[in-house]
Amino acid sequence: MNLTLEAVRARDAADPLRAYRDRFVLPDGVIYLDGNSLGALPKATIASQADVVARQWGQSLIRSWNDHRWIEAPQRVGAKIADLIGARPDEVIVADSVSVNLFKLMLAAASLAPERGQLLSEAGNFHTDLHIASGAAEFARLRLDVVERGRIEAGLGAETNLLLLTHVHYKTGERFDMARITALASEAGARTIWDLSHSVGAVPLDLGRDGAELAVGCGYKYLNGGPGAPAFLYVASSLQERLVSPLRGWMGHAAPFAFTDDYVPAPGIARFLAGTPPMLAMTALESGVDLFAEVDMAALWTKSVALFDLFAELAMQACPELACVSPREPERRGSHISFRHPNAYELCQALIAQGVIGDFRAPDVIRFGLTPLYLGYEDIARAVEIMRGILDTGGWRDPRFAVRAKVT
Ligand SMILES: Cc1ncc(COP(=O)(O)O)c(C=O)c1O
Repeated sequence: MNLTLEAVRARDAADPLRAYRDRFVLPDGVIYLDGNSLGALPKATIASQADVVARQWGQSLIRSWNDHRWIEAPQRVGAKIADLIGARPDEVIVADSVSVNLFKLMLAAASLAPERGQLLSEAGNFHTDLHIASGAAEFARLRLDVVERGRIEAGLGAETNLLLLTHVHYKTGERFDMARITALASEAGARTIWDLSHSVGAVPLDLGRDGAELAVGCGYKYLNGGPGAPAFLYVASSLQERLVSPLRGWMGHAAPFAFTDDYVPAPGIARFLAGTPPMLAMTALESGVDLFAEVDMAALWTKSVALFDLFAELAMQACPELACVSPREPERRGSHISFRHPNAYELCQALIAQGVIGDFRAPDVIRFGLTPLYLGYEDIARAVEIMRGILDTGGWRDPRFAVRAKVT
């Protein structure tokens, strides 16, 4: 592929999503390819944070729970996320972190089939999922079986209670066929919990169509909800009344302000709340999610595919020493592209030093998030060019880049 600067700029000019780039704060001199880890700051969030702090908290004080509808925020923002994942508005709620939501769903769902003793997951799944699964397994007296990706289907059986999978793999970007796997698990009598952290806001999702019953997802990645944004959880309406959260907090009570000693779960999805919603973080998440209200999700995915293809083709030509580990077929992957390189860490640091922010995933993967709302084709072409320059000059060998930071 011999692309001139004019050619990539022409693609950017013709991009139907181009206008969204101006809705984000993007620092000069930075090509941000880490929006799959921490999404960029929407400009609207600056205003909404100022409003929630100065006017709502500052002036309305505690009256804001009603006057500014703070109390409804977990459901309201949940309903907006539901729109993005093919769920009904009352099937999603915003609360806690992905880790905590996984724990709640695993324990609640496991109790529906106490005779089944296996919790099945994928080796190399995001580690918090496996850590939480090991704790949940102990509480629910399940055996946690962690098997290689290719052995998951064979691992399903009469003993399987729960199957816990991440829809798009955080490292390689591989994507499971949600409908197929959910159906296979269901045929075996098991329930599947999907982690949508690397899918929501990027990859087409239709949980209702695909028969998904349980899911969790992250607010701070493609949804641009801000660092540590609250997460969400999804429970299909058919299952909601049968599940009770193991974290029985007052916000999940049928009557939180009745101050009774006994716990009565709220009807519907609200029973999965535990404590008070973090309103500053919630407001930031809502601003991020609101951007999607106007976005054509099919156009978003079309652009993700095009950004990926451009990156893959340019990198294949210019940087043959990098081995792409993400599947090329769009339906088999998410919205990031990952490569193996023996010095992936140093290469990543050298790129960051030149303003190209991707990230490293141990032991040897460099990963680039493709966020169609604020990335353009020129960004991709420039990033690959800078990477080629670093490989040519051996710039990654600089001893500064070998020192590993605590957070990478
Ligand atoms: C697949 C996956 N699940 C969960 C998490 C973390 O979720 P939380 O920090 O909200 O517990 C991440 C974070 O990167 C992730 O990639």
